Amino acid sequence: MTQSDSPSSNDKSDTNTLWGGRFSESTDQFVQAFTASVTFDKRMYRQDIAGSRAHATMLMKSGVLSEADCDSIHQGLNDIEKAIDAGDFEWSVALEDVHMNIESALTQRIGDAGKRLHTGRSRNDQVATDIRLYLRDASDAAAAEYRRLLEGLLVLAEKHADTIMPGFTHLQTAQPVTFGHHVMAWFEMLLRDLDRLSDTRKRINSMPLGSAALAGTSYPIQREITQEILGFQSICENSLDAVSDRDFAIEFCSNTAICLMHLSRIAEELVLWMSAQFRFIELPDRFCTGSSIMPQKKNPDVPELVRGKTGRANGNLISMLTLMKSQPLAYNKDNQEDKEPLFDSVDTLMGCLRAFADMLPAVEVRKEEMLTAAKSGFSTATDLADYLVRKGLAFRDAHEVVGAAVAHGVANDLDLADMSLEVLQGFSEDITEDVFDVLTLEGSVSARNHIGGTAPAAVKEAVSRAKARLAATYNV
Ligand code: ARG
Repeated sequence: MTQSDSPSSNDKSDTNTLWGGRFSESTDQFVQAFTASVTFDKRMYRQDIAGSRAHATMLMKSGVLSEADCDSIHQGLNDIEKAIDAGDFEWSVALEDVHMNIESALTQRIGDAGKRLHTGRSRNDQVATDIRLYLRDASDAAAAEYRRLLEGLLVLAEKHADTIMPGFTHLQTAQPVTFGHHVMAWFEMLLRDLDRLSDTRKRINSMPLGSAALAGTSYPIQREITQEILGFQSICENSLDAVSDRDFAIEFCSNTAICLMHLSRIAEELVLWMSAQFRFIELPDRFCTGSSIMPQKKNPDVPELVRGKTGRANGNLISMLTLMKSQPLAYNKDNQEDKEPLFDSVDTLMGCLRAFADMLPAVEVRKEEMLTAAKSGFSTATDLADYLVRKGLAFRDAHEVVGAAVAHGVANDLDLADMSLEVLQGFSEDITEDVFDVLTLEGSVSARNHIGGTAPAAVKEAVSRAKARLAATYNV
C-alpha cells in the first residue's frame, strides 16, 4: 500500500462529502465497502431518478426551489439516466448507495442546484419510495407473466377437457379424472397467487416521500404533488412508519414463496409424469438437457430447477421477516438488508413464471398411457359403491361389497370392468347389466358434472368462467 492509499487519521479525502461534515477522519476502507449498498441498489436507478424529479418539481411548486434550479435538476437527471442506460456511468462504492451516487453526479454536472435537491428529503424516505416504485413495476411485470402462464393453462385445459387419466390421493390411483380438470387445479392455485399479488400492490402503492428522515420536514411541502407525479394511490400517513416498515416487501416475498410452492408441486408432477414409470407426458427437447455419461438420458431440468428454487424463495422470506423483527422505530441500517432477498425473489419469480409460461403449453400429452393407467388400479370402485347405493344399499354396506370385489380382482389380476356380470353378481344380487355404464372411465368422469367436478362438460364450463375471472384479476 502506498502512502496515498493509506489515509492518515485526520485525512478526510476519502470520506463521503455528502455527509462527512461532522467527521474528523475518513471511513475505514473495509467499513466503507461493508456498509455500501450501491453494488445491488443501483438496480433502482430509474425509480431513484423519477423520485428526484418529482421531488424537485414539488419543491419548485411549493416555492422552496427556483424554477431555474428545478430545470437544471431535471436536465441533469435526464442526462444521468441516459448515461446509466448506456452503461456510461461510474458507480462508486465510496458514495455508498444509488442515491448518493446519483446526487453526487448531479452536483458535478450542474453545480449548486444539485446540492439543493436534497432539501426537505432524507435517504430514509428516498429509499423507501424507490423500493415501492421498483416493486410496483416488478409486480406489474410479474402479473403479465402470470397472465401468460394462466392463459396457456386454459388452452391446455380446454384441449384436454375429456382426456382421461387416473386421479391420485397418496399417489395411489383413486378415481379417474380428466387431464383438463387437473390442469384447472393448477390454474386455481396460480390465479390465487396473482390475486394475492394484486392485493399486495395496494399496500406497495403508498408514498413515503415527504416523511424525510423520520419526523417529516419543516419545509412547506405538498405531498399531493409528488403523489400525483409518481402515481401513488395513497400517501403514507405516518412518517415514522413510512421510513421504517418493509411489510409490503415481506408480503411480496411471502406471495413469491407461496407461488414457488405451487410451482414446485406442478414441477414435481411433470417430473414424475415424464419418467419411464409413468410416461404420461413428454417435454419438448428444448426444455430438457442430457447426461454427459448416460446417452439415453433426457432430464426434465426446467421443472426440477423451478422445484429447487422454492428453497431460495423461502429463504428470502425468512431473511426479510428476520431483519425486520424487533427493529425499533424508525429507520435502522438493518433495512439495507432488505434489497438482496427482495431482488432475488423478484428475479426468481420472473424466471420461474417465464419458464412455465413457455413450457406448459408445449407439454405433449400421451393420452393412451393416461387412459391405460386409469384403467388399472380399480379407479371406478367408488362408482360401483355409488351404483349400489342407488340400488338401495347403505353406503357402508356398498363399500364392503366393493371391497370384496376389489380383493377378487387383485387376486386374479382383473379390473372391475373386466369381470363378467355373473362374477359381479356373486358379490351383490343388486348388480345388473347396467353396472358397466358406471364401471367405464367415461361414465365415471361424466357423472361428476357439477361446479368443481371433473366431467368434461364441467371442465369446459370452468374454463369459460375462468377466462372472465382471469380478466377481472390484477387490474390496475
Ligand atoms: N442505502 C440505504 C438503504 O438501503 C439508504 C438509506 C440510508 N439511510 C441512512 N440514514 N443511513 O437503506
